[in-house]
Amino acid sequence: MVEKSERSPQLGGDFELTDHFGRRVTSADYRGRFALIYFGFTHCKLVCPRALARISGALDRLGSIAAAVQPLYITVDPERDSPAVLRAFLEEDFPHFVGLTGSREEIDAVKSTYRVFARKVANPADPDGYDVPHSALTYLLDTEGNYRAHYADTVDEETLAERLRVEIAKDAPPAARRDMEWRS
Ligand code: NI
Repeated sequence: MVEKSERSPQLGGDFELTDHFGRRVTSADYRGRFALIYFGFTHCKLVCPRALARISGALDRLGSIAAAVQPLYITVDPERDSPAVLRAFLEEDFPHFVGLTGSREEIDAVKSTYRVFARKVANPADPDGYDVPHSALTYLLDTEGNYRAHYADTVDEETLAERLRVEIAKDAPPAARRDMEWRS
């Protein structure tokens, strides 16, 4: 069990970005619920669709408890991933998620706080001529925005759901937990 004192103070931090509705947001806007953060880009052929499907499936398994979690998809390709592009990509297949983009500087800043590796590489098969291979971890933040845990892409959907259930239960008093289960 990870106690609060064992949280990594170096991982994560405040950010200022634009959500997929075009609204300016900060990390503070997502406090009050857990946040699940995944970095990627919408042109990603395999890694992102598979990860977003797995995270979405894990949240579906949590049922009404999933209301305690806000999944966020932060682009590492802000030149192509405008709010509208992110919205179109997420709304159809991954509706749990809010997409976040920003200026190159804002994206580099948030990548740096999570130590995310992602850099453009040439790919002649891509219509725009490049891909953005990226590290593939899912970060869990607690309701106060503090880093809690991270999960590799090899953690399967069922295991991820159970780990999230355990983390959420740590913070919820029994009464609140019952409320979460009643909420539809
Ligand atoms: Ni990807």
